[in-house]
Amino acid sequence: MLGRDAARAAEQVGHELVLVGHEDLDVRDADAVEALIAGEQPQAVINCAAWTNVDGAEDDLRGAMAVNATGARNLAVATERLPATVVYPSTDYVFDGDTDAPYVESDEPRPLSVYGQSKLAGEMETAKHNPRHFIARSSWLFGVGGRNFVETMLTFAGDHEEVVVIRDQVGCPTYTGHLAPAIVRLLEWDTWGIHHMAGAGACSWYDFALEIFEQAGMDFDELRAGGKPLVGGVRASLAAGQSAADGRQSHSRTRKDYPMHHRVGILPSFSHSRRILADSRRGNNARERRYEPPVGAAPEAI
Ligand SMILES: NC(=O)c1ccc[n+]([C@@H]2O[C@H](COP(=O)([O-])OP(=O)(O)OC[C@H]3O[C@@H](n4cnc5c(N)ncnc54)[C@H](OP(=O)(O)O)[C@@H]3O)[C@@H](O)[C@H]2O)c1
Repeated sequence: MLGRDAARAAEQVGHELVLVGHEDLDVRDADAVEALIAGEQPQAVINCAAWTNVDGAEDDLRGAMAVNATGARNLAVATERLPATVVYPSTDYVFDGDTDAPYVESDEPRPLSVYGQSKLAGEMETAKHNPRHFIARSSWLFGVGGRNFVETMLTFAGDHEEVVVIRDQVGCPTYTGHLAPAIVRLLEWDTWGIHHMAGAGACSWYDFALEIFEQAGMDFDELRAGGKPLVGGVRASLAAGQSAADGRQSHSRTRKDYPMHHRVGILPSFSHSRRILADSRRGNNARERRYEPPVGAAPEAI
């Protein structure tokens, strides 16, 4: 999901691209990574290859670590040799969520889930092996392609009598169409290190779902708030370019360099959900309808 938008954003500002998908390269294979990077000689690599199945990681620590940590190390080692910049997108899952304040970059990570552990390990491998690194922590990504909350909600509203969404977790939904250009802009800077780059505006999953239905113009009022926690799903907001309430300072640049409010991203993210929207606007009985993912919408890594 993010890889596709990162490619588009980089192309729009004139970067020459080498697009590498999972079918072209397994980032766990150090020799293959080395050969590709040495052959292409990039100035920068945006490492969007990741194990992103949060629940699945709980049953496969080695699998998640192999992609998120070893893969990150392989890319950091290979890019350092050139030298080239490496960007490692990461996540608010590296924190335990045990705070009311937004997290800033200097906060101590304490992942509670295997996925969070593997991403923190990937951050450390990236930083250890290539000083020219950006770790771009974001949260609650939604966009075109891949599994994401916006399309899940539209689909559920289409074929379920009732949708239950948890209200006791707050985070910062981030539209990949906003995050990707922000990540590409990082490449113009030399402020290496960790950057928190979540969308402006914190909300609960429940409030996010309400916003999605409203913007979709869907007449779906059977939305219930629940409190069942997700596996490892304790999350909190990431502060970007701002000070936390207690004076802790984010070292990120100004707010304008970072992803916009998630509300602005919901409508553009609907582009592949037109059938669901069309059905709901016509007043059809959406409960009998199912969303079919667009052909060729599989996410890519670059
Ligand atoms: N989604 C979120 O809510 C979220 C939030 C914060 C941060 N992030 C981070 O943002 C980044 C992008 O997330 P995303 O949601 O866009 O991910 P995604 O859609 O799941 O894409 C991940 C890509 O990595 C590929 N991949 C998996 N294993 C690989 C391997 N061994 N070698 C090469 N490629 C491999 C996948 O290919 P296959 O499809 O073939 O497996 C897929 O194309 C990740 O680092 C993620 O941790 C995501």
